[in-house]
Amino acid sequence: MAVEPLIIEMSRPGRRGVRIPAPDVPETALPADMQRSDLHWPEVAEIDVIRHFTRISQKNHSIDTGFYPLGSCTMKYNSKINEAVARYTGFAGIHPLQPVEQVQGALELMYELQAMLAEISGFHAVTLQPAAGAHGELTGVLAMRAFHLENGDTARTKILVPDSAHGTNPATAAMAGFDVVTIKSDARGNIDIDALRAAVGPDTAGLMITNPNTLGLWDENILSAIEAVHEAGGLVYNDGANFNAILGMVRPGDLGVDIMHFNLHKTFSTPHGGGGPGSGPVGVRAGLEKYLPGRLVVREADGSYNWETAEATIGELHGFHGNFGMHVRAYTYIRMHGGEGLRQVSADAVLSANYLMAELRNDFDLFIDRSCMHEFVFSGNRQKKNGVKTLDMAKRMLDFGVHPPTTYFPLVVPEAMMIEPTETESKETLDYFIGVMRQIAQEARDTPEVVTGAPHTTEYKRFDEAGANRALNLRWKPAEAEAIAAD
Ligand SMILES: Cc1ncc(COP(=O)(O)O)c(C=O)c1O
Repeated sequence: MAVEPLIIEMSRPGRRGVRIPAPDVPETALPADMQRSDLHWPEVAEIDVIRHFTRISQKNHSIDTGFYPLGSCTMKYNSKINEAVARYTGFAGIHPLQPVEQVQGALELMYELQAMLAEISGFHAVTLQPAAGAHGELTGVLAMRAFHLENGDTARTKILVPDSAHGTNPATAAMAGFDVVTIKSDARGNIDIDALRAAVGPDTAGLMITNPNTLGLWDENILSAIEAVHEAGGLVYNDGANFNAILGMVRPGDLGVDIMHFNLHKTFSTPHGGGGPGSGPVGVRAGLEKYLPGRLVVREADGSYNWETAEATIGELHGFHGNFGMHVRAYTYIRMHGGEGLRQVSADAVLSANYLMAELRNDFDLFIDRSCMHEFVFSGNRQKKNGVKTLDMAKRMLDFGVHPPTTYFPLVVPEAMMIEPTETESKETLDYFIGVMRQIAQEARDTPEVVTGAPHTTEYKRFDEAGANRALNLRWKPAEAEAIAAD
């Protein structure tokens, strides 16, 4: 079988893709112990490299190539102005070990980003150091722990988590050494307030709650839940993954939340996943800032910028200031929108989700019949009775150039499909998706084999997804390449 060569297999002695500029410092030899001859650097021409990587990029789905309604992930379009600003030499060419006098602009940007995030969310202080939402959760929960330990409250060993929560919430609590207590949801998809009240007590360290929650619903019990936890002496952590639904409308800090993370790679349009790295700043109410990690950027009395470490810091969670390039992108996004623009972002995100839900609710089962925030969850139960699982429908969507929604999450919804269109999609794109979903619903009724056999048009079909995760092998080895070529 003909196999596309790996870049290393295209290598031919003497081929060149780059011209190294003449050095502007005196040349010195690398110390012998830093020289290696076993690295197999490929020697390839620019055209081959460009074709290789462009071809690979076309095999994947991306927000730049198609609709991506991946619930809870907020796959909004990442405007190119973010990239243009992040590439300014003054941002891209600096080093974290440079003296602060040389990087005043970068520090000012981080200072302002800290302040803007604090203002948008109603918190007192923000650290930019964590590198993802889950990393922000760990930061917040470690701060929670530090707070209780400082108060001598060593009996607070439990963190309460609703059953609709993202897996990172209980995982984080467990990783920070707490016992996790699951609180069920009520019939309207809120945290069950009676179950919460029964669970809180002197052993409660805190509650981790997502609001709007992962069912795409505003938690109608949020104020009572915060009150119950505070009365018991615990702290409230808001998972801010769904912040895109409430920008400029509600500030979690004003509700009484103590700690929250922001996913810059969701709400503030910095790239996700392979396009990352991510960024998960954390905001805290007054009194908790002394536990924050990393370098908090401050403005001195003379107007210059510096950084300092918080008084009772939980320590470093990342090198230096975190992923600075992402701070530049999020800063650009916020400045481009302004306060009113951000409010409009959320209004449009919520409108788009409700439009899709209303148009498709006759074709799929709506798990909880309430108007939604920026996303909603269908159940594929009806289709499953005809032998078509949600996974099959997700694969079928690929044939139409649509990335599937989040599936099988939240766990409380059988055959879940969690759809989040985001505010950046046009009505034409939303209508195209409605057409695709209606066609798939009809196929699931009339020609189920079309759906169960999908995808039909993609280069690769179905993968062993668990195997790919558990035994991921990305390292090229000469023997493997020879075996593939001989196949
Ligand atoms: C509700 C919720 N919480 C937490 C996370 C974790 O965020 P991250 O992927 O940035 O670590 C996610 C990610 O999708 C999420 O949807």
